[in-house]
Amino acid sequence: MNKIAVLAGDGIGPEIVAQAVNVIKTAGEIFGIKFEFHQALIGGCAYEKYSKPLPDETIEIAKNSDAVLLGAVGDWKYDTLPPEVRPERALLGIRKELNLFANLRPVIIFDELISSSALKPEIIRGTDIVIVRELTGDVYFGTPKGIEVRVDESGNGVRYGYNNMIYSEKEIERIAHVAFKTAQSRNKKLCSVDKANVLDVSRLWREIMIDVSKQYPDVELTHMYVDNAAMQLIANPLQFDTIVTGNIFGDILSDEASMISGSLGLLPSASMSYDGKVALYEPIHGSAPDLKGLNVANPIATILSAAMMLKYSFKNNEAYELIFDSVKSVLKDGFRTKDIYKDGDKLVSTSQMGELIVNKMRG
Ligand code: IPM
Ligand code: MG
Repeated sequence: MNKIAVLAGDGIGPEIVAQAVNVIKTAGEIFGIKFEFHQALIGGCAYEKYSKPLPDETIEIAKNSDAVLLGAVGDWKYDTLPPEVRPERALLGIRKELNLFANLRPVIIFDELISSSALKPEIIRGTDIVIVRELTGDVYFGTPKGIEVRVDESGNGVRYGYNNMIYSEKEIERIAHVAFKTAQSRNKKLCSVDKANVLDVSRLWREIMIDVSKQYPDVELTHMYVDNAAMQLIANPLQFDTIVTGNIFGDILSDEASMISGSLGLLPSASMSYDGKVALYEPIHGSAPDLKGLNVANPIATILSAAMMLKYSFKNNEAYELIFDSVKSVLKDGFRTKDIYKDGDKLVSTSQMGELIVNKMRG
């Protein structure tokens, strides 16, 4: 039995995840695969019940499954909680618990949505990028960190906030291998993004990337500073094939890159440990608490994350293609959720978008 842990989370999480679960069930029926779904709480909803955002029970359920489908976590009402119990902490916690150090974020552009992008069609048409984001290191997890009072020269207490941007060579090496292999399966161009003109951690990053590249002579490795990469991504996205970068740069660049495709509501992601154990699939967007319960959120990013799950965790490329093509075809028919809606389109709700995609899959 294929076990899927379903961690819907907060905000729009439950609504979009419900649609993705229907899509997985439909793929199961079509391809004769049996799935068992195990729900668990994560984020603010878990805090309400267990006084912690990542309960042990959730970690257990996730560890005992083949794949995790995650919605999103967070809500403004938890913004005043102490940092250790904030919903976002659960996301970082589960990534660390499952050793999900490699986060693949494809930036796909649907021809049908070229006009939804704020960028010019001739700049973005044909964009096909995978961002390989390191997910368990960097300033996100580095120590020491904190906010503390230090006494300045005049004897007054001044508060300092600090985090540590830190990578070991082992951490850089393992993400480098994932990135080179990803590039190898694509157009064999890898751009490593860093800030080596200023940061020591980036100098090490670059050195290791160059070392590892010797094992992949068929892949062309280039380097770009992160500020330049942010500019190049929207000036000329077609120059990129595979991008590898650290946790914080990858976080920022992937949100930016989502605008190439027109909406943050479209892009999926897969997080892997490459130890043959569980992988986690989630949209790159957040919990959008302002849209919660309104049945207006775009479920496509989560549905495409489910497609990635079928491909990577359950090795069913056909199911992946079917889901992908069904999404494309529904978009081609003119159906749009609010985030990508323009005059003349057919406006649909979250659940209607999900049903349309499921119906397309059934053919
Ligand atoms: C993401 C999100 C998370 C991150 C937040 C919610 C902790 O922005 O998955 O990109 O920064 O990684
Ligand atoms: Mg982010």
